[in-house]
Parts: sequence; structure tokens; C-alpha cells
Amino acid sequence: MKIARFSRVGFILAAAGSAVGLGNIWKFPYIAGEYGGGAFVLVYLLTVLLIGFSIMIAEMLIGYMGRRDTVSSFEELAPTKKHLWKFGGFQALAGLCIMIFYSVVIGWIFNYIVTSFTYLPATMQEAENVFGSMLHSDFTTQFTYHTIAFLWITYVLNRGLKGGIEKMNFFLMPALMIILGGMFLYATTLGAFSEALHFMFYPNFSKINGEAFVTAVGHAFFTLSLGMGAIMTYSASLEKDANLVKNAFWVVFLDTAIAIVAGLMLFTFLYQYGSGPAKGPGLVFISLPAAFYEMGIIGNIFAILFFIALAFAGLTSSVSLVEPMVQYFIDRFSWSRLKASVLMGLFFWFFGIFAILSNIDGAKEYLTWGSKNFFDWVDYITAAIMLPLGGLIMAVFVGFIIPKNRVESIMRPQLRWAFDAWYFSLRYITPVAMFVVMLSLMGVL
Ligand code: TRP
Repeated sequence: MKIARFSRVGFILAAAGSAVGLGNIWKFPYIAGEYGGGAFVLVYLLTVLLIGFSIMIAEMLIGYMGRRDTVSSFEELAPTKKHLWKFGGFQALAGLCIMIFYSVVIGWIFNYIVTSFTYLPATMQEAENVFGSMLHSDFTTQFTYHTIAFLWITYVLNRGLKGGIEKMNFFLMPALMIILGGMFLYATTLGAFSEALHFMFYPNFSKINGEAFVTAVGHAFFTLSLGMGAIMTYSASLEKDANLVKNAFWVVFLDTAIAIVAGLMLFTFLYQYGSGPAKGPGLVFISLPAAFYEMGIIGNIFAILFFIALAFAGLTSSVSLVEPMVQYFIDRFSWSRLKASVLMGLFFWFFGIFAILSNIDGAKEYLTWGSKNFFDWVDYITAAIMLPLGGLIMAVFVGFIIPKNRVESIMRPQLRWAFDAWYFSLRYITPVAMFVVMLSLMGVL
């Protein structure tokens, strides 16, 4: 099976498009807010640098050496016990599971783009009511926009790696950076910018505890798209002479830079016009629209642009969440791309309906088990168990299973003096860190 090749810039944009997603613009600011800002940001940055960067290289390496879908790549590269190691590749299923709620959230964003043209909530209370009534009683709106997200993603996947994924990233990623960059520049002219800077970068260590630490590590994984084979699948289409370290550097750099720019901008607006660094997942859907209202007409324009940028970030990540399974069925079962894209799309579309229903009054009672509804369970199982497990498997696979001389012959020329540190980190530091994260996210620690 011959795989289409990304262009050099195309790969970086697509991989950065995967990494830069709802995690950066929606999730990062509110968890940074929750754990008190500065110190949390510092832990997150250190994790990205020390663990994220080295797993990013490892995941790229598996795809680059394997050259096929995730399952075949594991199978191909394992020197023995191939039938066992191939299960490492089924980690790709995590992406489809993430899509079950990711697509629903993109639907909310579509809805917010449309309503921002004519309406912004005047108070926090009103903003809360608007979000709450969409979430708890408006099935039709959520269903319609979730379906639009599904159609869009399936269409792009069906167009293939170059004509679909690369092309979409080629337009949406620069557009996203221009929108966020422009709004960021505006934010720097506001008085509250220095407060935002202080909040994000002045480390207050009293707020840092084990939980903050673990959340930072887990988030570093999610935001860099590590642990489920998205980066791996894209890397199977790298040029033969590609430099993995440089590619990994660019992806990590863009992802981190965009998270920080988005965070500074949001906190500036919230300090200047809103209620300060709001906490919780409602930050961009509740506190932010209320702050935009205070800005007057420019607030409407900003709201529309902001939600467009957020939708772009979500869509470029979505295709990377589904593509690994699409590639799997094309490679291993010789399905046509059309069939693979449509069936994978229908999978997350169908279960997404239950994710919507699990917040709707009257239905949620049937879709709640224990403390969480279906939506939250899917989020939790993917982020707390599947991704860290995937990261662990990849680190161990590159660190212990692929023969060292094969890894070394590719990576030493690229990493030079840093090779030994990278290899050591994969073998010992990363597995231990991932294991601890998993246990504590699962509530064992
Ligand atoms: N990184 C994306 C975000 O920040 C989400 C994402 C896309 C992802 N592809 C992934 C997470 C693969 C884990 C694995 O929103």
C-alpha cells in the first residue's frame, strides 16, 4: 500500500494542526486558572520540554520507521511477539472515542459563531443561562451542529492526506494564527495585560500540589496529541530524509506558543472586562461572551473571530483523531477511503448523539453511571487511561523493544549529544511518570 507524502511544511502544519486544538484554547486557560496560574504553567512547560518532546520524537519514529498504519507499524517493528505488539496500534481507537465528545463541543462552537452575530449575553448570569439551556434542553441545536461537524470532517478525510488534510491545514492554521495573533496584539494595549502576564508567569508555589502536577502532565499529552497514534500516522507519510527532531521541535513550539498566546489574551479580556480568571470549563462559553459584551461592537467582532478560530483549531485536530483508524482499514482491509471515512465518521456521529443526550434533561438519567454521565465518562476514560497508556506503550516500545542499533542509527545523527539523554528519558523517566499519572488520574493515588 503506497501512502501519499506530505510536503515538508505540510507535515508541520498538519501535525501542529493536530496538536493545536480545543485543548489549547478551551482547556488550557481554564485549568491554568483552576490551579492558580504561574506555578502550574511552569510545571506544564517543564513537562512539555522534558517528557512531551521526547515522546513526540518516539511516536514520530515509530510511524517513520513503520511507514504504515499504527497496527502494522508496531507489528513490523517488533523483532519478536509481533502478534502481541500489534495491539499497541489499536490505541488508535482512542481517537474515535475522543471524537464522540470532541465533535459535540465543535458543534457548540459553531452555534456560538452563529449567535455571536446578533447576540452576546449582558451578564454572567445570563451567559450561564444561555449555555445551560443549550446544554440541558436544546437537543436539536446540538444535534444539528454536531452533524455539520461530522459531515465536514468526513468530507475532508475522504479527500485524503494531501487533497484533504494537508490542504485544510494549509488554510485553517495560518488563519487561526492570524486571528489569535491580531486579538493578542489588541490585548497587549489594554491595561489588564500586565495582570494577565503576572497571573500566567508569576509562580505561586503554594497552589501546586500532586493533583496540579498530574493534571499538567496529562494535559501536556492531550495537547501535544500524543499517545494514540495521530502523530504516528502522519509521520508514516514523512519524506525519507526528514529530520524528526526539527519537526518535533516545531510542533511542540507552535502548540505551546499558541496555548500561551491564547491564555494571555483570554485572561487580559477577563481581567479588563469580566470577572477575572474564571475557572472551569465554562470559561470560553460563559465568562468570555459576557466579557465580549462589555467591549461593545468590537466585542461582537471579536466573539465571531474567536469562535471561528476555535472551530478551526477543533477541526484540524479532529481529522487527526479519525485518520489513524481510516488508515488502518485502508491498509489492512483494503477498504476504499470513502468507505473508511464514512464508517468511522458514522461511528463518532452515532455515539455523539448519546453524548448530547447525556446532558439533556429527561434523558440524562438513563445515561449517567456513578458520578459521571456518558459525555464525562468518555472524556475521562480517554484522557485518564487510554492516552497515558498509549504514551507508556510507545516509550517502552522505542526504549526497549525496537533494537537499539536501529533506533540509534536514525536518531543519533539527528540528536547528536542529546541522544543518550533522550534514550534514557524514554526508558526510565517517561514510563515512571506516565505510570504515576495514570494511577493518580484513575484515583488510585
Ligand atoms: N491535541 C488536541 C487538542 O489539544 C486534541 C487531539 C488531537 C489529540 N489529536 C489527538 C489528543 C491525539 C490526543 C491524541 O485539543
